[in-house]
Amino acid sequence: MSSQTLRDARRYEESTSKTIKKDERPAFHLSTYVGWMNDPNGFSYYNGKYHMFYQYHPYSCQWGPMHWGHAVSSDLLHWEYLPAAIAPDEPYDRDGCFSGSAIELEDGRQLLMYTGVLRRQLENGGFYDIQTQCLAVGDGENYEKYENNPVLTEKDLPEGGSKFDFRDPKMWKKADGTYMCAIGNRPADGSGQILLYSSKDGFNWTYEKVLIANNNRVGKMWECPDFFELDGKWVLLTSPQDMLPKDLEYHTGNGTLCLIGNFDEETNTFDEGANQSIDYGIDFYAPQTVLSPDGRRIMIGWMQNWDTCNVPMQGRAWFGQMSLPRELSIRNGRLIQKPTREFDALRTNKVEYNNVKVNGTIQLDKVVGRTIDLGVTVRPADKEKLYQKFAIRFAQNDKYHTGLSFRPSESVVKVDRKFSGTRRAFLHQRRSRVITNDGELKLRLIIDRFSVEVFINDGEQVMSTTIYTPQDANGISFICEGEAEIDVVKYDIEM
Ligand code: FRU
Repeated sequence: MSSQTLRDARRYEESTSKTIKKDERPAFHLSTYVGWMNDPNGFSYYNGKYHMFYQYHPYSCQWGPMHWGHAVSSDLLHWEYLPAAIAPDEPYDRDGCFSGSAIELEDGRQLLMYTGVLRRQLENGGFYDIQTQCLAVGDGENYEKYENNPVLTEKDLPEGGSKFDFRDPKMWKKADGTYMCAIGNRPADGSGQILLYSSKDGFNWTYEKVLIANNNRVGKMWECPDFFELDGKWVLLTSPQDMLPKDLEYHTGNGTLCLIGNFDEETNTFDEGANQSIDYGIDFYAPQTVLSPDGRRIMIGWMQNWDTCNVPMQGRAWFGQMSLPRELSIRNGRLIQKPTREFDALRTNKVEYNNVKVNGTIQLDKVVGRTIDLGVTVRPADKEKLYQKFAIRFAQNDKYHTGLSFRPSESVVKVDRKFSGTRRAFLHQRRSRVITNDGELKLRLIIDRFSVEVFINDGEQVMSTTIYTPQDANGISFICEGEAEIDVVKYDIEM
């Protein structure tokens, strides 16, 4: 039986979503059905389809009492909205159904685990949130909350673990059938830790150990963990809050962190090795992964930044979109991300140029557009003489452009959306260190109506950024201080 709260949300989204025209949304990125979207939740493959749930407040373009929105897809690019999956309608989650994950049970039903939030008012007017882990079981469209919710509470925390910051369960299944779960928590040192739980049946959970502690190294609280095996290693993805910058690897605010190490499944011991950011752009957070039926590890993140998301978008009934699905691998000890081959299948109208000299500013015939895949390889025109700066301007007309620039002497790529139509003094630039070989750099820009994702050197770095530019700004220029030579391949993306 669904609650009145869920029925209201379903009725509201069904009618209000009709006011959003197709071309007012991203063309090939999943955006919210209506209202507000944040983190991907319950990213899974179930009954022949990919399922994406998400943090959802249908009633406005601002964060509010969290529901779970729901969409399904066969290729992670064409999405069909399903009715909202769960709503904050129980005594233990009435202030929000926060992030979580999904897994298939032995009997074929789908199990969701999410964080239930209960807000308690303090006498001094302040408040605090109690966070517990809760379950819902369903058939891929309708979900029933578990009668014994919550299944993990403060009683299941290690000593010093905070009951106010205990969230974002990510489940997976071991080869022997045991269900495992990683959950974010704040220990007594005020930073973050990831806790590990196990279960024989998916309903009764036992605390195992601290999988890894932040010890105040990278940001504070660690949100939205994901943990999986990849290319013989184990990868922990998490999204730290309150980061301090570290060189160009970590930026201030909410960021992303990837730890690559070894994991002993017998003793549940994670031996962490290298660490890095997941995405070096402005807008990327809380990614989740899914294992595709053919064994690929695919990641999608929320393409937004918590510090810049309270800016009203004039005339829009939606706020929030997901990144492209990205296939993960490990190369030279680093996390590599590539658009999936399903995305490559959407490419059409190939335009190609090779060995084009750039000295000043040029445009190339037919290299324009706002829903495109643009590959650019740049190198010095003269091997003996490095150019100073190479830049690409896109989503461009007389008034607007977004820029990507590269200074080979510094090995730094910068994305700059200052001229993308924002009217607020928020974050407009990000820089990433890159590896270059004598000034040669390989770029792939995937541009949708409201975003750009830049894949550098076949996915060694990715920089994702939302833009707000009117759609008729569709020009592209290539600019060089000094002389460079470029190869360009451009495709339109057709849905
Ligand atoms: C991360 C996050 C999660 C939480 C959710 C609430 O973006 O803060 O930790 O579950 O958003 O919407």
